[in-house]
Amino acid sequence: MRPLSLALIGCGAIAAKHVTSIAACPGAKLAAVCDVSAERMEQMSLLWRSASSEKHEIIRFTDYKQLLADPSIDAVVVATISGLHAQIAIEALMADKHVVIEKPIALSLREADEMIRLADERKLKVQVCHQLRYRPLMMKINELVKGGALGSILNASVKLRIHRPLSYYQSSGWRGTWQHDGGMLLNQGIHAIDLLLWYLGSPKRVYGELFSHYPFKETEDAAVGILTFPSGAKAMIEANSITLPNNLEQSLFVLGDKGVISIGGPKLDQIDRWYIEDQPFAEEEARKILLDHSEHVEMYRTLIEACQGNPAAEAALIGLSEGRRTLETIFALYLSAVTAEPKSLPIHEFCTLQMKP
Ligand SMILES: NC(=O)c1ccc[n+]([C@@H]2O[C@H](COP(=O)([O-])OP(=O)(O)OC[C@H]3O[C@@H](n4cnc5c(N)ncnc54)[C@H](O)[C@@H]3O)[C@@H](O)[C@H]2O)c1
Repeated sequence: MRPLSLALIGCGAIAAKHVTSIAACPGAKLAAVCDVSAERMEQMSLLWRSASSEKHEIIRFTDYKQLLADPSIDAVVVATISGLHAQIAIEALMADKHVVIEKPIALSLREADEMIRLADERKLKVQVCHQLRYRPLMMKINELVKGGALGSILNASVKLRIHRPLSYYQSSGWRGTWQHDGGMLLNQGIHAIDLLLWYLGSPKRVYGELFSHYPFKETEDAAVGILTFPSGAKAMIEANSITLPNNLEQSLFVLGDKGVISIGGPKLDQIDRWYIEDQPFAEEEARKILLDHSEHVEMYRTLIEACQGNPAAEAALIGLSEGRRTLETIFALYLSAVTAEPKSLPIHEFCTLQMKP
């Protein structure tokens, strides 16, 4: 079978993770890169040559539209600044390319809905980069929660206490803007919130408050939220990107009436509690997979197999509807913060530009 021919659009900080993960997958090759910076394209081409056994020349494009017109490309990875994700993905789907799309998938629900419509209509595969879902520990928690091992879920929480210094915002002008980034919930908090929703489903109501500390950026530096689920379960969100002097912790807590899982540490790889009433060796099993962080490669392996027609892999893709649900929940929190009232879901319209004063 011919390897899947992938092109990377956006060669910034996260690009190296995509290049090395593609290089680790036998069924795929990086065929092209695109960025407005020639230097960054050069860096990613060099990285591909050192990380993979393939020594073919990588085609370079400064205009993604020209890349999308190349019939030799099967799939594109959208890893540009967040404000361009949806526009590029929509055009890629219209050009009949499969898409790997960085989070957040869009900065408006209208664009998210358009992507979903196009992907369905054209039967194209989309993989949303909520890659933590492919980390073995997170998959195990999903299996336990969905399989009922924790009993009825009563309460959950996610916490993010990290530090993003001034230099982080100065390094790229798009960061911290409502037009191109969204706030810290959309950029950093989104992974933990996505896990929470993967485990608990869609909330029916969201209450939130936001807090801004840095005067040089538009978006929030901290947020708190309360999510209510149809079952009555409640979840808390506590997130900030101004913890001093550096990253402190992330945590995920799920409490059921038959067990509790609490993980933390700077990289969500520390077990604080792993108790399941009728599974005395559950924690021992979890510790065996605790440090397996192969999620990016697994994310690509799943996409490649789905594109090769494997139905199990297709079912394991993180689809656009999942990405939309996480967006919708964060947007509901934003709307709640603006109106100082709880927001009921679903919501159909929201764009981060509404947050601009
Ligand atoms: N999944 C994750 O864990 C994860 C981690 C980090 C970043 N991200 C996401 O990846 C995206 C990129 O983040 P980053 O940290 O690499 O940002 P970055 O600023 O380092 O890189 C963005 C790149 O996009 C390029 N770009 C801008 N406009 C372009 C255009 N029109 N055509 C082609 N390229 C263009 C820029 O030149 C730059 O090289 C963001 O959306 C971010 O949210 C995801």
